[in-house]
Amino acid sequence: MGKSFKIAVIPGDGTGPEVIREGLKVIAAAARKFNFSYEHTVFDFGGERYLKTGKTLEEADIKELKKYSAIYLGAIGHPDVKPGILETGVLLNLRFSLDQYINLRPIKLYNAAFCPLKDKEPGDIDFVVVRENSEGLYKGMGEFKDKGTKNEVAIQLSYNTRKGVERCIRYAFEYCRKRNKRRKLTLCGKTNVLTYAWDLWQRTFNEVAREYPDITTDYAHVDATTMWFVKNPEWFDVIVTDNMFGDIITDLGAMIQGGMGIAAGGNINPQSVSMFEPIGGSAPKYTGKNVINPLAAICAAGMMLEALGEIDAASAIEAAVIKVVSKKLKSLAAGKMGYTTQEVGDLVVGLLNK
Ligand code: IPM
Ligand code: MN
Repeated sequence: MGKSFKIAVIPGDGTGPEVIREGLKVIAAAARKFNFSYEHTVFDFGGERYLKTGKTLEEADIKELKKYSAIYLGAIGHPDVKPGILETGVLLNLRFSLDQYINLRPIKLYNAAFCPLKDKEPGDIDFVVVRENSEGLYKGMGEFKDKGTKNEVAIQLSYNTRKGVERCIRYAFEYCRKRNKRRKLTLCGKTNVLTYAWDLWQRTFNEVAREYPDITTDYAHVDATTMWFVKNPEWFDVIVTDNMFGDIITDLGAMIQGGMGIAAGGNINPQSVSMFEPIGGSAPKYTGKNVINPLAAICAAGMMLEALGEIDAASAIEAAVIKVVSKKLKSLAAGKMGYTTQEVGDLVVGLLNK
């Protein structure tokens, strides 16, 4: 008898429900094939619920979510809700309250035809960004002084604790070792300007590195990192960085792997409940049209199963996605795939059922 899981599903806003539907189809097929079982419960957090009730996420909701093996999230963001409310009230609240201190973003090119960079093959773009997910500028610390006057000052602080930085860096070293590809970990920062935060990061990185003599270490400033992503992405294996830089470089990462249609991420609490999501957002203009690419959500489902220990299921999902991306789709972009959202889900399920 295989393992059994409880999955909390938050389809969320916009195209979230459409892509999650396909992801759930794929999980069901994987469960049949690889002999694990699960039950899932759907939660309605997001824009519609906020507009009806004024509520984003309550403490009781967090308590409830802690009972699950993992969370599968579609997208958060609604055109009728002021930017910031749902992002902080739902998405960041989930990350912070569940102490999902790692944002894990694999950047992998599956088909050279979908890469905007010239002469790059799938093997050239295959790295992972480990983004700190609980501190830095995202902590929301700061203040206005003399708001609304000519002398106004807005202060936004980056908050970095030794403990927070160290647990992230340790995770990155462990991940790099387990991944066992090039065994190279790059610290991406800004030591030449942000001399408090990046001094702490650099010192911690150097200290922890001594415990991992098998891992080659490297450092790149964040601005240079964006340049290398375009020029020499093959240099990277695992990158560790803070919350804000990680947010920025992973969107660029998504583009060089073929776009938001394929980019997935995990919000990881290694000791507790983790959450997996396509990173493309709610895409209001494509909502309800059956044209959005569900592969990012399907890849997020694969990451979730891997985190739950269903390694074979995760590999089979990735293999199926690679086939669909390299043999079927005309494009990874919404409306241009040559297939509907549902048909893309069916293609992946068909390959899994083989
Ligand atoms: C991401 C997103 C979020 C972030 C937003 C929606 C709050 O851009 O997951 O990268 O900034 O972390
Ligand atoms: Mn982002």
